[in-house]
Amino acid sequence: MTALTTGRGRRVREWAVTAAATAASLYTLDVTATAAGVALVASGGLAGIGPAWAVAFLAATYLAWCAGLRVALRANRLLLETTGTSTNALSKAAYDLTRRLTGRARPARLAAAGGYTATEIAKELPYYVGAFGVAALSDTVGQVEALVFLGGANLGAAVYELGLARLVRSVVRRRGRRYASFDTDWVPAEYLAGYYSTVEPDEVATIAFFVDALRQAEPGRPVLFFGVGPTLHHVFAAAEVASEIHLGDYLPANLAEIRRWIDREPGAHDWRAFVRHTLRCEGSADPSDADVTAREDLTRARITALIRVDAGHPRPVDRQYATVISAYCADSATGDRATWDRYMRHITGLVGPGGLFVTAALRRCRGYIVGGRSFPSADVDEHDLRAALRPGFDPQAGAIEVHPVPQDATHGYAGIVLAWARRSGPGARGGAARPVEHRVSSP
Ligand SMILES: C[S@@+](CC[C@H](N)C(=O)[O-])C[C@H]1O[C@@H](n2cnc3c(N)ncnc32)[C@H](O)[C@@H]1O
Repeated sequence: MTALTTGRGRRVREWAVTAAATAASLYTLDVTATAAGVALVASGGLAGIGPAWAVAFLAATYLAWCAGLRVALRANRLLLETTGTSTNALSKAAYDLTRRLTGRARPARLAAAGGYTATEIAKELPYYVGAFGVAALSDTVGQVEALVFLGGANLGAAVYELGLARLVRSVVRRRGRRYASFDTDWVPAEYLAGYYSTVEPDEVATIAFFVDALRQAEPGRPVLFFGVGPTLHHVFAAAEVASEIHLGDYLPANLAEIRRWIDREPGAHDWRAFVRHTLRCEGSADPSDADVTAREDLTRARITALIRVDAGHPRPVDRQYATVISAYCADSATGDRATWDRYMRHITGLVGPGGLFVTAALRRCRGYIVGGRSFPSADVDEHDLRAALRPGFDPQAGAIEVHPVPQDATHGYAGIVLAWARRSGPGARGGAARPVEHRVSSP
């Protein structure tokens, strides 16, 4: 991706595109529907039918119009969820507002559909006024012709909605192809070189948060890292609390990179700066080289499984864990909000009753750069994360933090969201619980 937009600029762009698309859509619909209505009357195909048949015809055309509208509503939802834009400004306004107020996808989708449908119904009015106005004033056009015109306009509108839905789907498909794919484009070494040569501000914050969150973990139990990539920088924080560490990722190439570090192969990534930062976060003022080496050794000893996982699978791992950590995985694996929701459901489903879930996501990011290619991101924020954690997690135990990281804008994001939550159920460590908080820290 070359043009990366965040925050206010992205919203302005979305609204500019939506306003232009709304105007173009209004104009094209008007031309198509009017032309279809006029053509039907002029063709004389329904000339001579009585008023009752004309009304029945009009009613039947509403069925076609509704069918077209249904397809268009689905396409509009897809457009909103993948691009944040719409061909209907009211629909976008309703979607954005509801999403902000409720933090949930379903009410926002309903609001978007309501806004879209209300606009389409309102657009009918000028046709009725025009058709019956002409019939009242004209000697050659009667009530029956007015009804036939309206029916023709409905058929034109139905064809228009179907065409628009097709166009929207092809735009979304093309846009999807603009992003790089994990299956074909991901190069672990490029990711490590681009993001993990030094401890950048987002990781200063993420590791500090994870160290703190892991104080809530049940000691002596296996810990799963889901979507760990070719990295270990978050893993060192779990070495003391975990009985075993299981590392899961979608790509064998990422797991192979980790294996190289475990086996101390030449050229394996150097994580010592991250280990040092972890130890500082744990309270060691000035960790020595020996301290860093000791934590590396302990981590190597704790890692007992490298597992291939797919967040698209309803049970990505055939067991549950007392602690699951998934950093920059679901949000950084897809640009599609509905897919992100699904991935989050599957990943959080791996947390056992009373267990701890710790996560991190790029905030309001559509794409991040790895090796000059843009990988998709789901454009989520703290409200989305809160909503994703609502089912099944204790609302009284957990934390959500937002950290601005303007230095990372060149990567494609300017903020991160960090969260931990405890699954409801037996085994929940009530004493360690903290109420959900939402802090915005300074850069
Ligand atoms: C941006 S990387 C994050 C890696 C690491 N957690 C970090 O913090 O640097 C996103 C990771 O998601 C993984 N991923 C992509 N699609 C996935 C899927 N369907 N299931 C599980 N992981 C997936 C990729 O292989 C990649 O390692």
